[in-house]
Formats: sequence, structure tokens, C-alpha cells
Amino acid sequence: MSITSAIHAERRQRFLEQLGGAAAVIPGATLVSHHADCEWPFRQASDFWYLTGFDEPDAVALLLPHRPEGERYILFVNPRQPTAEVWHGFRWGCEGAVEHFGADRAHPRDELAQRLPDYLKGAEGIAFRVGRHPAIEPLVLQAWAAQLDQAPRGGAAALGLVAPCPLLHAQRLRKSPEELERLREAARISAEAHELARQVARPGLSERQVQAVIEQHFMEQGARGPAYGSIVAGGDNACVLHYTANNARLQDGDLLLIDAGCSLQDYYNGDITRTFPINGRFSAEQRELYTLVLRAQEAAIAVVAPGASAETVHGTALRVLVEGLVELGLLRGDPEGLIEQGAYRHLYMHRTGHWLGLDVHDVGAYRLGERPVALEPGMVLTVEPGLYVSDRLPVPEGQPAIAARWKGIGIRIEDDVAVTAQGAEILTAAALKSVAAMER
Ligand code: GLY
Ligand code: MN
Ligand code: MN
Repeated sequence: MSITSAIHAERRQRFLEQLGGAAAVIPGATLVSHHADCEWPFRQASDFWYLTGFDEPDAVALLLPHRPEGERYILFVNPRQPTAEVWHGFRWGCEGAVEHFGADRAHPRDELAQRLPDYLKGAEGIAFRVGRHPAIEPLVLQAWAAQLDQAPRGGAAALGLVAPCPLLHAQRLRKSPEELERLREAARISAEAHELARQVARPGLSERQVQAVIEQHFMEQGARGPAYGSIVAGGDNACVLHYTANNARLQDGDLLLIDAGCSLQDYYNGDITRTFPINGRFSAEQRELYTLVLRAQEAAIAVVAPGASAETVHGTALRVLVEGLVELGLLRGDPEGLIEQGAYRHLYMHRTGHWLGLDVHDVGAYRLGERPVALEPGMVLTVEPGLYVSDRLPVPEGQPAIAARWKGIGIRIEDDVAVTAQGAEILTAAALKSVAAMER
């Protein structure tokens, strides 16, 4: 099931209805310099993609609820141009933007400054995210300033600049059945890649060779590639949460932590972490900590259901981890007090998960004021507790020094979980995680 242009149209319709009388200006992404005159592969802006499905750089979408039907969706795009296309590839141009992407009208991108004031005329407000789009922001502010200057004679001007994010991101937070299908596909490919990685990993191989196996599978399966910098971290490297150097040799006796997921052509993402012994057998300490993280993760997944929250998921995992660490002698004291004081943070320093969708750390609020956002069917989150035993952070006062036999053990187990009416669907269940499956 793919995300069709009809689905993008429905999303725009819903967004238009929520905008009230405010006109929205939603910029797409531009190309980003890698070095000299080479650019990174193009990555469309997720808000723009969600509403348009248009995958070219430099585009801008206007959604204009104050205009009559047939003038509410305007795209500014790079026009067709043989010399540009011979260097950089096909463009849909203005004609394609109307015919294939449902725009009511499309204009060349370099006409935005000149046309924007007219399109914004009559809007009660302007929905635009300030601080993110340095090329577009001055055009929006100038158009608004001109309206305010002319208001005494023109009779009206937009009253304020509002952020489109709360509306749009609340919409993106709740995934449609088609989006859940795409996330299942991203999860399938990502899980297969983890299974392949575990089959090839052995002492003497480099982290990079394992990364190659994972990313080769992503591309063979038609994904764009990794959704984020793949983390392939042997031994103590796993205690660096965002380790992406991936240039060490895998050592006999160490664990290997792999945090990798693919990004599909339509940008839906997988995000999986697995940790296993490189030589196929856990040491006693590795087994103790792995079993503990797995128990925490399974307990946290078990509370995912409508009405729970990301907070309760985190709290559940944290409770299991802290109790287990006390039993193992790595923490000392009453678990509740340790949690209150944060006395576990030298061993577990991140939250237990995040929303997942078109962004890996997807949009959507976790709290509204004091109140945690309640989980609803269609929301998708990761559940990813871990433990990282190293000397990088000081042991809090009153807590036991860490014996050498525990050090250099970094473990995280991460699944992608969709909230369902009954509870939860683990999208990434095909990536195995039992102790038995991690050994050979
Ligand atoms: N791979 C990034 C994360 O797990 O949040
Ligand atoms: Mn994650
Ligand atoms: Mn991850």
C-alpha cells in the first residue's frame, strides 16, 4: 500500500480545515552542501512531504483557506529547464505540479517574492514556522509588514503569525492505516538487516563491515538507505550513545550493539537496536545485564495501550532497571528514592523512547502543559531502554564504585511499537531478541 496523491490531498484538506482563516506557508527542503560543490543526497522536509508528496528541492507550498475553492493549494517549484535537468535530473515543473501533485496553481520558485503578498491578502493570520527557513522567512515577514502598512487604507491585514506545527504535528502523530503499512515495511526491512548482521558478525571483522551488510540490505530492498547514521558499536563503544565512527575491530568477548533502521522512498523509517555477543556466548555479567534490559523492555512494551503515555512507558522500564541494578549491587538504596534523585543516570542516561514516523524522532507533543499525552491507536513509538557501564560519568555520591568486570558493557534493545485498540503491535518483532536467539 503506498501513500497516494489522494491521501496527500486528504491531509491537505484536514489541515486547511484546521487552519481557520490563516494562510499557511510550508517550505520544502533545499540541497545542503557536503563540501565544495558536492551536495548531500536530497532529503525532503517532512511537513512539506506529508502535505504534498513532492520530492524536489526549493519548493514552497501555500495552503490558503481564505481563498475560493480551486485556489487554495499553490506550489512554487523549480521550473523545467533542459540545461538544469541534464546536470541534475528530471523536474516536474509547474505543469507537473498541477497535473500530478494536485496543485490548484503552480509557479516558478523565483516568483515567490513577487506573488506571495497577493496570495496572503485577506488571510486572518499567517501560519509559518519562524527560525527554520532563512530564505523564505524574510519574504513572509515583508509581505506581512506591507499588509500592516496598508491596513488603514486596505481595511484588513493578517493579525498574527502563528506556528503551523501544533496542528500539523498533531495530525502527523496519529498514523493512518496506510502509514502503519509503510512503517511495517520499514520495520520489516530493518529487522531483516539486523538478522543478517548477527549472522555475519564475528571477532576480527570491523564494525564498518557489519554496517555495510546492514545498509546493503536496506538498498537491495528498495529503501533510500539508513534513516540515521547507523550505530555499529563493539564493546565499550556502545557506551557512546551516538557512536557512528564504526571503525573499530570486533573483539572476542565483547558485545556488539547495532542501532540501525532504514528510510523508505517515502521517508517512513525503522529504528531498531539489538545487542549480542560477538563470539556467540554471553559472559555472566553480559547475560545479567542483557536479561535485565530485556525484562525492562518487555515490561515497558506491555504497558503500551490507549490511555497510557510515553511517561508511563519510561517509568515502567526505569523501575525494572533500577530494581535490577540494586539486586546486582550496581546501585544502592531504595529504588523509588534512587529514581527520584536520578542516582541511576550514570548507567541509564536517556529516555525510553520517542515517536516514530516520517522523522525518526517524530513530531508530536509528549506533554501538553502538565499533562502527558495519552497514547491512542495509530500512534507509533520506540521502546528502547539500555544500560551503559563505563567510566565516562562520575558515580553519584553514596553509590557503589563499579567493579572492572562490568565495565565496557553497553546494551540497548529497541523496538518500534504501534498503539492499537487492544494494546500494542510490535512492528519489529521479526528482529529476534531472546537470550537464546542472541547466542549461537
Ligand atoms: N537511532 C536513534 C534513536 O534510537 O533514537
Ligand atoms: Mn530510537
Ligand atoms: Mn535507534
